[in-house]
Parts: sequence; structure tokens; C-alpha cells
Amino acid sequence: MLVNKAIFPVAGLGTRFLPATKAQPKEMLPVVDKPLIQYAVEEAYAAGVREMIFVTGRHKRPIEDHFDMTFELEVALEQAGKAELLEVVRSVKPDDMECIYVRQAQALGLGHAVLCAQRLVGNNPFAVLLADDLMVGEPPVLKQMVDQFADWRASILAVQEVPAEHTRRYGIVAGTQVNDKLMDVSRIVEKPAPEVAPSRLGVAGRYILTPGVFHEIANQPRGVGGEIQLTDGIAGLLRREKVFAYRYDGKRYDCGSKEGFLQANVELAMQHPQLGAGFKEYLKSLEI
Ligand code: G1P
Repeated sequence: MLVNKAIFPVAGLGTRFLPATKAQPKEMLPVVDKPLIQYAVEEAYAAGVREMIFVTGRHKRPIEDHFDMTFELEVALEQAGKAELLEVVRSVKPDDMECIYVRQAQALGLGHAVLCAQRLVGNNPFAVLLADDLMVGEPPVLKQMVDQFADWRASILAVQEVPAEHTRRYGIVAGTQVNDKLMDVSRIVEKPAPEVAPSRLGVAGRYILTPGVFHEIANQPRGVGGEIQLTDGIAGLLRREKVFAYRYDGKRYDCGSKEGFLQANVELAMQHPQLGAGFKEYLKSLEI
């Protein structure tokens, strides 16, 4: 039971990031020098995933182009002898990685997006990565989760503690602690108000799910915001199977918000092998 497939729901409109996302996909916004979607794909690849399934929509062509061969660019770089840049361009899609695209014609929610990939996933465990959530961890967060999956053979949700006033932004879990990292989930609620939230453990945009979740999603009524929610599907799943919440080691940047996106840019620029040192000097020179 390997996790070889990952779903990237990328059909969303990115309304939290207007006007930047008026005519370009939010997943293509760059953090330092790479688009958000590439961070998520690299994380999945580092976790051993080789089949990337993008659930896409209208106006999302740049994502497909990014993971395609850019013939003219590659020829030009080759002729100019720019070997390093050529490698940067080619490494976006390693030869052993497969990219598959399926359209979500209507924005009916995250659960619906995942359901759009059901036939491509079949009866296999799979990962879901939300590119808005840029995760920095060592080992990469999805790799940590794949290792947990190998031990428990059950669905694993990435969770972090969130401030009480933010429970409305997340799927919130509650359950029994198995060890300091892992919780056996008994409840999951999508975006509860703080007064009714079962805990302050919020789901970050990384999931490993067993294929039984498809049937559960398909049988849920519309949930919060009138959308078909992945969280509600998981709530159905945990009545039949074990589901674990895993407190990952690492940091999450909410790049769907302008604040989180700016934080990611500053912090990743500071760590960048070529830009970092000079950028830190620049930051120190600012009068804040
Ligand atoms: C989605 C999920 C939510 C999860 C969050 C993580 O919400 O529905 O359960 O906690 O991603 O980022 P969204 O951010 O798409 O509203």
C-alpha cells in the first residue's frame, strides 16, 4: 500500500488574493522564485508520489504549461550554453513524474474537487495537497505523513494548533491521543465557531486518505457554505475506519492570504541559498 498518487485541487478562484488573481491562477503566484504549486508538487515528489493529479478549471492553463516541456525556452537555453538554467527548467517535471489533469466544471467545494479524481485514483490510498498552504519541514511534511501511513495503514490528517478565534477557518478535529504526535480522531467539524469547536486542532492542507472516503463524500449533503466538503466525507469515513490526526514538524504559511504570502516570501528569501545573505543584510538596513 504505497502512496503513489496525489490530488492537487487547483480550480479555486483565489478571491482572497484579488486583484493579483484576476487573470492568473493563485497557484502560480511565486514565493521568491517558484510558483506555489511547484512547492506542493516537490513536497509530494519528495514523499515518493509520482502520479500528480491536478483538479483544474477554466483559466488554469498556466499550471499545465508550467509542468509541460517548454520547447522554445529549452532550445534557446541549450544553444546559449546556459546549462544551469536549463536544469532549473527541466527539473520542474522529473522524467519519472506523471501529470494528469481533470476538470472541475463547477466550484462545488473541496470534497467535490477530490471526487472529480475518483476514477484516476481508483482503489488506492492517495494524498491531497492544498497548494495555498505552503509547508516547510524537514523531512517534508507529506513525507512525515507517508511514514505514519506506513505504520498505521489508515488515513492521516496534518493538524496544527490554531488560535481560538480562527477555528472558523479550518476543519477542527477531536479524539484520543495515541502519542505526542498522533490522535485517534473521533470527530471532525468544518469551520466551527469558537464556542462550539471541539478543540483547537485545525487541519492544514495535507491529507493521506483511503479510497473509502470517495463513497462518503458522494453521500454527504452540502455542508458549510453550501459546498461539498472534504471534512464531511472524512467525518463519514471515521465511522467506518480509523482516521489519525498528525501534528507535523514544520511551519505552515497560509499563502491564500496576503499576510501569509508575504511572510513566506520574506522567510524563504532569507533562507535562499543564493539570495539569503544579501537579503538579510537588506532587511537589517531597513528602519522599522
Ligand atoms: C480547506 C478545508 C479545511 C482545512 C483548510 C486548510 O478550507 O476545507 O477543512 O482546514 O482547507 O487550509 P479552505 O482554506 O479551502 O477554506
